[in-house]
Amino acid sequence: MAKVTLKNVYKIYTPRTKGGKEVEAVRDLNLVIEDGEFMALLGPSGCGKTSTLRMIAGLESITKGDIYFDDVRVNDLSSVERNVAMAFETYSLYPHMTVYKNISFPLEVRHKSKKEIHKIVENLAKKFQLDDVLNEYPARLSGGQQQRVSLARALAREPSVFLLDEPLSHSDAQLRFQMRTEIKRLHYEIKSTMIYVTHDQLEALSLADRVAVMNFAELQQVGTRDELYNNPYNLFVADFIGEPPMNLNKGLVTQEDDDLFLKLLGSSITLHMNAERTEKIKRLDKKEYIVGIRPQDIIPVEVPSGFMTFDAEVDFVEFIGERSLLTIKNGDLTLKVLASPDFDVKAGEVLKFSYPPERVHVFDIETEKSILVL
Ligand SMILES: Nc1ncnc2c1ncn2[C@@H]1O[C@H](COP(=O)(O)OP(=O)(O)OP(=O)(O)O)[C@@H](O)[C@H]1O
Ligand SMILES: [Mg+2]
Repeated sequence: MAKVTLKNVYKIYTPRTKGGKEVEAVRDLNLVIEDGEFMALLGPSGCGKTSTLRMIAGLESITKGDIYFDDVRVNDLSSVERNVAMAFETYSLYPHMTVYKNISFPLEVRHKSKKEIHKIVENLAKKFQLDDVLNEYPARLSGGQQQRVSLARALAREPSVFLLDEPLSHSDAQLRFQMRTEIKRLHYEIKSTMIYVTHDQLEALSLADRVAVMNFAELQQVGTRDELYNNPYNLFVADFIGEPPMNLNKGLVTQEDDDLFLKLLGSSITLHMNAERTEKIKRLDKKEYIVGIRPQDIIPVEVPSGFMTFDAEVDFVEFIGERSLLTIKNGDLTLKVLASPDFDVKAGEVLKFSYPPERVHVFDIETEKSILVL
């Protein structure tokens, strides 16, 4: 096992054709993945996740910066020398070997006994629902099955680091759910360092100890699920983490006596904040901010203590999964609110909505950073 450290890492792809453009896929990335930690790299398509993973794997050169496994600089070491196990979205299985052989091959190379190998393969095949296809060749398998063989092959080994790039993208929702549990269990059993790339926030947040959120080649924030959810550093993370996304609107600083609050533009709603944010706004002395509140944090009833309220009209009601999503309006402003599906409400009704003031997020309009980190 190893701790992985990325120091000021860049990946710039040089153009293949004359007149082609350079692509900066990773910019000045600093990240430490602790020994035994499960880290997810999360971000939209093209943000540099795979490039980062391939540089850690030794499959792609590092344009600038350094990568360390524990105290060893690995920039110039091959994948084999780094002792990493990988499973990628494209499975790269050995086509002339059966599924059994594909999984067992890396173990044979490492001179494990036949009996030991058999036990490991059987165990993984069962976990990843491959027991029925152990004697098949990869060409006969579905995309999802091929991906799971690739995953099993990676997990059969005992490398310094596991690198997994969207290893479940070809499986259906139910299977993904089961596989996630198995991967989590395996990590719990072997306590290995794992770096898992995905653009699915649910997958990242449910599997990983910490999540590194990337956008446009840059790291935005690293944190646990709670840190990202409760204290997003910037607008991108606030908007990207959480389902449905946070309500984000312009808010005008308004003062009445000693009380300070944010009036949501286009409406008569004024939101109160906790003491920390209120103090910060007093010191920053700006007029307008971006104000955020999660659909989960607005409650469509009056709650007695510790909550503030505002009035709004229910515009329409949708059912999403096991919750119902209300779109509410006040003036020209609309907000989303999550409610229990048995909450009895009709479009056109005017209700009181409650929210805890400490759940109101505030971001600088220019820098898009949370005022708490400014
Ligand atoms: N070999 C390459 N040559 C040139 N540009 C590349 C190469 N590989 C990736 N890129 C570019 O680098 C950027 C980052 O790509 P990367 O594959 O790392 O993103 P990603 O976050 O893994 O995206 P996805 O979620 O779609 O897999 C993209 O703009 C991509 O087009
Ligand atoms: Mg990718």
